[in-house]
Amino acid sequence: MNRWCGKVAFVTGASAGIGAAIAAKLVEDGLQVVGVARRLDKLQELASKLQNFPGKFHPLQADVTAEEDIIKAFEWVRGHLGTVHVLVNNAGIAKPASLIDGPSEIFRKILDTNVLALTITTKEALKLMRENGDEGHVIHVNSVAGHRVTDVPLMNVYFASKHAVTALAETLRLDLRREGSKIRVTSLSPGLVETDIIRCFDADEQLAKVIELAPKLHPEDIANAVAYVLGTPPHVQVTELTIRPTGSL
Ligand SMILES: NC(=O)c1ccc[n+]([C@@H]2O[C@H](COP(=O)([O-])OP(=O)(O)OC[C@H]3O[C@@H](n4cnc5c(N)ncnc54)[C@H](OP(=O)(O)O)[C@@H]3O)[C@@H](O)[C@H]2O)c1
Repeated sequence: MNRWCGKVAFVTGASAGIGAAIAAKLVEDGLQVVGVARRLDKLQELASKLQNFPGKFHPLQADVTAEEDIIKAFEWVRGHLGTVHVLVNNAGIAKPASLIDGPSEIFRKILDTNVLALTITTKEALKLMRENGDEGHVIHVNSVAGHRVTDVPLMNVYFASKHAVTALAETLRLDLRREGSKIRVTSLSPGLVETDIIRCFDADEQLAKVIELAPKLHPEDIANAVAYVLGTPPHVQVTELTIRPTGSL
């Protein structure tokens, strides 16, 4: 990880769960981390916890589903930190609703957050990475749900949104490769992690009980995986990394 010390990372969804753990790990490892989310108070709380670490955490309020917020956030990065070297597309949501007759508004919000926002954020980050010697690493926080549809009720477009992330990671890798770019792309696919997002399963009483008893990862396990993929030498590209809790189905 030493070669990333002092470099700039942009982490979406840094106010809670996996994103907060990734941001903390990168600040511990000496990076300048721009943490983006809607809840500024949570980001500021994290910033004060990370004050005595080698790197620095920069809280930035933005709704990733608003393109103008993403553009403004990268303008801030350009103005204050010059560029970005690592992008972690982590912001994501799951909301319980039936695919058969649920509200389209929920479907739209999930696809906007998990798919479109990720593509727009990537595009903005790549502009800076390419201006700066074409070096960098894009990490999409995907899911095991991005590789296989399983029998979980009320997940509506969530599986589809994460399958899109799998396709977007590989499409980006091939596009960059065609241009001879050195920028690396990784899809990171966790199983169940103990965070707020899994409260979406509470809508189904039976499922909630199963989830409560199921083995779970900690957000820090995913942060350590980010450090691992970043820490591999430049000629190594971890394109897909699946992390499941031991003993999971
Ligand atoms: N937990 C799991 O079991 C699990 C498993 C596999 C994959 N994942 C993936 O891991 C990622 C992180 O989820 P998590 O488990 O850490 O859930 P979480 O604790 O609910 O955190 C989600 C984060 O995304 C942010 N976010 C949501 N909508 C946003 C928006 N419109 N603009 C900006 N930020 C937004 C939230 O911040 P604000 O609310 O402050 O905006 C929060 O920081 C997601 O992509 C999820 O699909 C999770």
